[in-house]
Amino acid sequence: MKRILVIHGPNLNLLGTREPGVYGSVTLDDINQRLLAQAAERGAELRIVQSNHEGAIIDAIHEARGWAEGILINPGAYTHYSYAIRDAIAAVGLPAVEVHLSNVHARETFRHTSVIAPVCRGQVVGLGWKSYALGLAALLDE
Ligand code: DQA
Repeated sequence: MKRILVIHGPNLNLLGTREPGVYGSVTLDDINQRLLAQAAERGAELRIVQSNHEGAIIDAIHEARGWAEGILINPGAYTHYSYAIRDAIAAVGLPAVEVHLSNVHARETFRHTSVIAPVCRGQVVGLGWKSYALGLAALLDE
């Protein structure tokens, strides 16, 4: 059975009410339910974490060692500047996929840079909750 750690970074707990013009009306719980159903269809297990704190995200990545076979991560704004999260992903050596609901490349310039992407297998952006679904599908196919 494949085991995947899913990480949602800061402010993603507010999905549904947070800037709906950018992020849509889907809630984090909706996304999690879809991912759990997708994983169940493939006989895979998910551990899902949301945190607004960089250190908690790093701890979750470390704890994935020995349990998870892949990491699906939306690092939120940490994407653009957290060398610590990048180093944690590199340190555990698990295949990771970075996802974003919005098309970060069509937004403010500071969102065009990801310091996380270079340590990930790939990046899926701009497709709303489907970014997560496609990222998870890629990890389950690994
Ligand atoms: C986001 C994009 C980030 O730039 C932003 O800080 C977020 C959400 C996305 O999923 O589109 O919090 O990661």
